[in-house]
Amino acid sequence: MIPGSVEEVRRALEAERYVADRSLAVAIHLALQMGRPLFLEGEAGVGKTEVAKVLASILDEELIRLQCYEGLDVSHALYEWDYARQMLAIRLLEASSDRLEVADIMSRDYLVARPLLRAIESAAEGRRPVLLIDELDRADEEFEAYLLELLSDFQVTIPEVETVKAEVPPVVVITSNRTREIHDALKRRCIYHWIDYPTFEREVAILHQKIPEVDGRLAERLAEAMQRLRALDLFKPPGVAETLDWARALEILGAEDLTAEVAEETLGVVLKYQEDVEHVRRLGVAEIVG
Ligand SMILES: Nc1ncnc2c1ncn2[C@@H]1O[C@H](COP(=O)(O)OP(=O)(O)O)[C@@H](O)[C@H]1O
Ligand SMILES: [Mg+2]
Repeated sequence: MIPGSVEEVRRALEAERYVADRSLAVAIHLALQMGRPLFLEGEAGVGKTEVAKVLASILDEELIRLQCYEGLDVSHALYEWDYARQMLAIRLLEASSDRLEVADIMSRDYLVARPLLRAIESAAEGRRPVLLIDELDRADEEFEAYLLELLSDFQVTIPEVETVKAEVPPVVVITSNRTREIHDALKRRCIYHWIDYPTFEREVAILHQKIPEVDGRLAERLAEAMQRLRALDLFKPPGVAETLDWARALEILGAEDLTAEVAEETLGVVLKYQEDVEHVRRLGVAEIVG
């Protein structure tokens, strides 16, 4: 069921253990009510992909994910012909000495639907799946142009077969880590929201939601250390994923406090570039844990 108000969105997110501030709940509410794609931008690990997963659970609908990458072309995102099955069909038809018609092997049966077509087909059948187009900044601008077209009419034409149109569009969530700017035209179709690193309070709340075993004081110590790390000029500042990993690592090691020694031993859980590790060591790990 679609939540009916901002407050309901917030409660639904919390029930799925997602800690959102009001502005994100407003953006989600508007996207759902206005039937517009939600465009989430932010650094890696701030909870963008998770929004789509949580939305699918809230709506009790399928999550259909398209992971973008450099060189992703439309056919990989939309549909492909199943050549192996077509070849098999041709052989069988030849063996049975029936006349072979193009239509015999150019039908829906021989198409493999990729995420975009799957989402449109599912919506055309009356469902409202959540279509996650993840890390769009990794795809090429050519793909982006195609997506713009798709998001304007939610219609796919398969030349030899049929046109599929979703009268009620799927719920679309687009994410970008902003390694490049996404075109204005595409953003204009969407409800845009920037997800920032969490505040200290929100990060503590996330730790409690996601890892209830973590002691309250330790959660605060971790969140504080994260705030300090993110204030440094690091090549890759740690996201929420790293905070959660850090808490789990301490648990595994049986550490009850974030001491400088434990932090030093576990820096690799949080920082993934040697330059960043050295930067923190030069500064002194004790400075980070406070
Ligand atoms: N606000 C939040 N509430 C709960 N968990 C969060 C929140 N933000 C991030 N996380 C957790 O942090 C991890 C990384 O989030 P993810 O959505 O993969 O980040 P992104 O897609 O922005 O790189 C996930 O395990 C997610 O559950
Ligand atoms: Mg992601």
